[in-house]
Amino acid sequence: MVNNLVLETIKKRRSTRSYLDKQISQEDLQAILEAGIYAPSAGNQQSWHFTVIQDQAILADINKSAKLTAVNIDNEHISKMAKNEQYNIFHGAPTVIVISGKEDGLMIEADCAAATQNMLLAAESIGLGCCWVDLILFAFSGDKGDQYKKQLGIPEGYKPFHSVTLGYKKVEAINAPSRKQNVVNYIR
Ligand SMILES: Cc1cc2nc3c(=O)[nH]c(=O)nc-3n(C[C@H](O)[C@H](O)[C@H](O)COP(=O)(O)O)c2cc1C
Repeated sequence: MVNNLVLETIKKRRSTRSYLDKQISQEDLQAILEAGIYAPSAGNQQSWHFTVIQDQAILADINKSAKLTAVNIDNEHISKMAKNEQYNIFHGAPTVIVISGKEDGLMIEADCAAATQNMLLAAESIGLGCCWVDLILFAFSGDKGDQYKKQLGIPEGYKPFHSVTLGYKKVEAINAPSRKQNVVNYIR
């Protein structure tokens, strides 16, 4: 069977939802951001912007706002989570990166998703925990959305698409959620 470090990292990565109370190093953060920046992008437009949030008070505020908006969503799973006072959309991670896309870009959703996945794999490859968290979007679509965009320095003309939480794993996830079978067909 073909195997190497990249393939191992892809299969080993799990969404981490429990973090140690310890900040990641600047060196690790830079390596992860660089992995995002090296993602493919439509027409090589590199239509992304990355906002690193390590201010815990701001993260707590965004968490609160996202949940306030999410409570009213017509989705039982999400509204139940939003009602749970203990639930933190960032799972207590000390660092969150918001990935925004330039609104007039060619295929910004795809560009931002590629950068997001690159960062998740980079984090896993250096032993950090991470999770792709789009619940943050409820904060941007709520009453304080424009305020957050300004406060976070998201450039004019850019729209937040995703966020990635980063930190040291409290526990190592062992079992991957099972993967669907029969999702490939061949035309030969
Ligand atoms: C577009 C997207 C949005 C996601 N948003 C969230 C989120 O807001 N909160 C969360 O805990 N996980 C989120 N996830 C992580 C998924 O729940 C997770 O990837 C999936 O359950 C598979 O588990 P694994 O990442 O361990 O393989 C998101 C994943 C994707 C691709």
